[in-house]
Amino acid sequence: MSELRNLDEKLGEVLGLAQAAKGATQKVGKLAEEDERRRLLDQMTEEAEETARRCETVLDDAAFDGRKTAILAQARETRQEATEMMSTYLGDDADELDGFEFLVMAEAGEVGHWKILDTLNERAGIAAVRELTSYAIPVQDRHEQLARETALAIAGAEDPLAVS
Ligand SMILES: [Fe+2]
Repeated sequence: MSELRNLDEKLGEVLGLAQAAKGATQKVGKLAEEDERRRLLDQMTEEAEETARRCETVLDDAAFDGRKTAILAQARETRQEATEMMSTYLGDDADELDGFEFLVMAEAGEVGHWKILDTLNERAGIAAVRELTSYAIPVQDRHEQLARETALAIAGAEDPLAVS
């Protein structure tokens, strides 16, 4: 398998994170107690799928000739690591707030990776990657913001002195 360049590795990571995000939003959807929050998570699941699809399309660009298999392997590894992290964080006793707390971390991590990919591509100048990051960064920024606002809304509605 060909060696991964820095940009290839980061592209594999954002793909793996998008694949893991699909599973995470579905899992938190099962913990959600209100229809509005479930709808929000459904939309995030769809956008994670769309993001992964767009990453896969970019792998067919000539800039990644001969590297697709290695990048997909990187994506699998990242997906597995992120999914293990979720299983550790969200055990059997996880509640809705735990779910959104996990998403606050996961979405912030995704945003960070996307901005790093975008920065790497400033010098590489691959048009297909530029198009991909300009789609994904606003989407991921919004996910991070929604996860944080929802976690705070749930926390604000909890009785701080009750025993859970
Ligand atoms: Fe996301």
